[in-house]
Amino acid sequence: MPALVLLGAQWGDEGKGKATDLLGGSVDYVVRYQGGNNAGHTVVVGDQKYALHLLPSGILSPGCTPVIGNGVVVDPSVLLSELSGLNERGVDTSKLLISGNAHVITPYNVTVDKVTERFLGKRKIGTTGRGIGPTYADKINRVGIRVQDLYDESILTQKVEAALDVKNQILTKLYNRRAIAVDQVVEELLGYAEKIKPYVADTVLVLNRALDDNKVVLFEGGQGTLLDIDHGTYPFVTSSNPTAGGACTGSGVGPTKISRVIGILKAYTTRVGSGPFPTELFDEDGEALRRIGGERGVTTGRDRRCGWFDAVIARYATRVNGLTDFFLTKLDVLTGWEQIPVCVAYEIDGKRVEELPYSQTDFHHAKPVYEYLPGWQEDITKAKTFADLPKNAQGYVKALEEMSGAPVSAIGVGPGRDETIEINPFL
Ligand code: GDP
Ligand code: IMO
Ligand code: MG
Repeated sequence: MPALVLLGAQWGDEGKGKATDLLGGSVDYVVRYQGGNNAGHTVVVGDQKYALHLLPSGILSPGCTPVIGNGVVVDPSVLLSELSGLNERGVDTSKLLISGNAHVITPYNVTVDKVTERFLGKRKIGTTGRGIGPTYADKINRVGIRVQDLYDESILTQKVEAALDVKNQILTKLYNRRAIAVDQVVEELLGYAEKIKPYVADTVLVLNRALDDNKVVLFEGGQGTLLDIDHGTYPFVTSSNPTAGGACTGSGVGPTKISRVIGILKAYTTRVGSGPFPTELFDEDGEALRRIGGERGVTTGRDRRCGWFDAVIARYATRVNGLTDFFLTKLDVLTGWEQIPVCVAYEIDGKRVEELPYSQTDFHHAKPVYEYLPGWQEDITKAKTFADLPKNAQGYVKALEEMSGAPVSAIGVGPGRDETIEINPFL
């Protein structure tokens, strides 16, 4: 069972970092395949808490090689500060590998992200402001800078010139900002080059050879299915493919190598930034989920929007990712409710709809149709097996499993590594 994908089944922040870390000790490689430092993955090891943005969560497991694949966008200043932050805490980061084909988030991409959002005003996406969208746009427009370009000053200068030719016109004429100097950008990027060099590798070759040798490779998604540029709630999405197919394009590993695709699924729903969210709560229950679940963004510190579990989007995630399993997280947060509403379908313009509508307009009008499941009052954070859970908590998990279309193979009952119920081990 060589390659596994672990990805977000909702709008991100499902607990991917914890799930990856849990497996980290048993896998040889953990690979980020898309996104960048827009991600915020929290890992709790004993009394230590780590917030990772760009680095794969496997970096915390000695013996595991963390890999930043070609599909990731890399901000070199964030990379270096995240590495030195971990080194100061005694984490060995020397095994990290970075694809030479990964694209670089340049300072002008960060500027463009911020000014574009300001320009959009009420229509803004609510991005993390990390330059993600503009960097992927440059990649697709074929004016991007790749990690390998940092090692050829003449090529780098030509490419930065090409990218800034158009951007400076837009910045000065449309947004009324100052032009960005090519030399300054080149100098800054060259300043990172030598520090990053020891990590740069042909990761496609490394990963495929590892799989040939029967090593275990885990792909760790950033963001989530509904934030996918193709399959998410466009345009309120990120600019990459967090869905399972992204693991292949973002790493150079073929789909035939992947044996399991695990969807990380929160026992309720959260979202950060703009966009439709049918089960969003604006009442005390929403406040309670936010407070008990600690639902505040790891990257931007924004409060997360909170709502009940939505089985329609879980079913959709099963379909577009070909999920084989779910890892249901944060079940403990739901302790204390007398009954728990679960969205089983939508009502759109007076009609019951069982599946995610492909039309954006319809989705914006979707109203949740709820079923009410009996809650539980007992503390479940010490549960080690499924049988340890109160009957109603078991019933909640079984009901979600039935509605969502894939088996729940693990359950999170707290943020720590050992606060997990394993039902069907992933490895
Ligand atoms: P990610 O982006 O998917 O890695 O998720 P985040 O780290 O942004 O957000 C998930 C939060 O929930 C983090 O603070 C985790 O420590 C925490 N967490 C993960 N699993 C559980 C769980 O089963 N129970 C509780 N109470 N917290 C959890
Ligand atoms: P993890 O990996 C939740 C959201 C932003 C915004 C939209 C586009 O921790 O689950 P971007 O900066 O990517 O262009 O912003 O996507 N977003 C996330 N929401 N978790 C994340 O990552 C996110 N990364 C981006 O809030 O709505
Ligand atoms: Mg997060």
